[in-house]
Amino acid sequence: MMPLAKTPPMGWNSWNTFGWNISEGLIKETAQAFEDRGLKAAGYEYLVLDDCWSLRQRNADGKLVADPEKFPNGMKALSDCLHGRELKFGLYSCAGVLTCAEYPGSFEHEFADAQTFAEWGVDFLKYDYCNRPLNHDGKILYRRMAMALRNCGRDILFSACNWGHHEVEKWIRSSGAHMWRSTGDIVDNWESVKSIAKSQIGKECHGAPYCHNDMDMLVVGMRDNGTFVGGGGCTDEQYRTHFSLWCMMNSPLMIGCDVRNMSDEAQAILTNAELIALNQDPEGRQPYVTRHWDWDDAGAHTFVKPLHDGSYAIGLFNLDDMSTKASVQFWDMGLPVASGYGFKLRDLWAREEVGVVKEGMNMQIDAYSCKVYRAELVKV
Ligand code: GLA
Repeated sequence: MMPLAKTPPMGWNSWNTFGWNISEGLIKETAQAFEDRGLKAAGYEYLVLDDCWSLRQRNADGKLVADPEKFPNGMKALSDCLHGRELKFGLYSCAGVLTCAEYPGSFEHEFADAQTFAEWGVDFLKYDYCNRPLNHDGKILYRRMAMALRNCGRDILFSACNWGHHEVEKWIRSSGAHMWRSTGDIVDNWESVKSIAKSQIGKECHGAPYCHNDMDMLVVGMRDNGTFVGGGGCTDEQYRTHFSLWCMMNSPLMIGCDVRNMSDEAQAILTNAELIALNQDPEGRQPYVTRHWDWDDAGAHTFVKPLHDGSYAIGLFNLDDMSTKASVQFWDMGLPVASGYGFKLRDLWAREEVGVVKEGMNMQIDAYSCKVYRAELVKV
């Protein structure tokens, strides 16, 4: 098996917007939109069908069957079509007897199902946690499917989804998975985005190349058009901050909106190459937080992430509903005032050079907003 997921996986997942309402036509149109709206060029490659793609029963041989009404040409034809476009195909199953929407799960069918997925040309498997027999430890169920996938004869990225239970970040890497869901389901509103981001503080060190902390699918661009995860929607400013947090914290970037009909603003957020470069930095280092004291109160939060070329990403975030002061002092990043160095800064949303700054920055940040810089050390 080839090493997979050196950097956080990027793609699209059907669940947030479409729920059970999925079909071959939807996936083909989404693949077309990947090309037309610049997503493929930006690095998004996996198209993942979430729950509800199969019939409610296995066939007489005990195999999973794609719903022929939704997928009249079957899964192999669909994966061939995506591979022909140099995209990758993802499917969903569950560690339990039934999936969360009560379709057949892979419990005690792990090896046979991995074989079926390999035959269908699947490149990615999201593996959920509903309807698990409670006398089975979750750990062993993820180890089982990882073993089955790692030996099925095809490179299949394994996306574990146990919602952060059982301190998953401490054991999932050694199960063989490539990413793990660290929280419950995201909802398309600001409170949900904010609480997911906050819940990951202190767990930064667990994410690293080949196994990434999945903070759940992006809600960027959904504007409350979600079958199950609608929650009022966010503003474009909030979506920009959400995307910046997921980039700074190295989460997989799985789009959840209807990319066929996304706004130009959503497209601009999702394809910001300089933000994506932070997420895809080959060293995969997590950020640290400076000025952590007021995380639970109003105020701004500063993340600093070392990048492979010696530069740093600096993100100043205001997650609250009032404008606030934010600051970063470069000595908190390790730069003594007397060093003779400063940072040459580029604002990655304004896409402009800021100039060389010594010692630090203080600024006012609007509600729900952020500033993200790439900072290069220079002599001053
Ligand atoms: C769970 C997962 C979601 C989605 C649904 C599908 O809730 O956490 O991401 O896959 O199941 O039923």
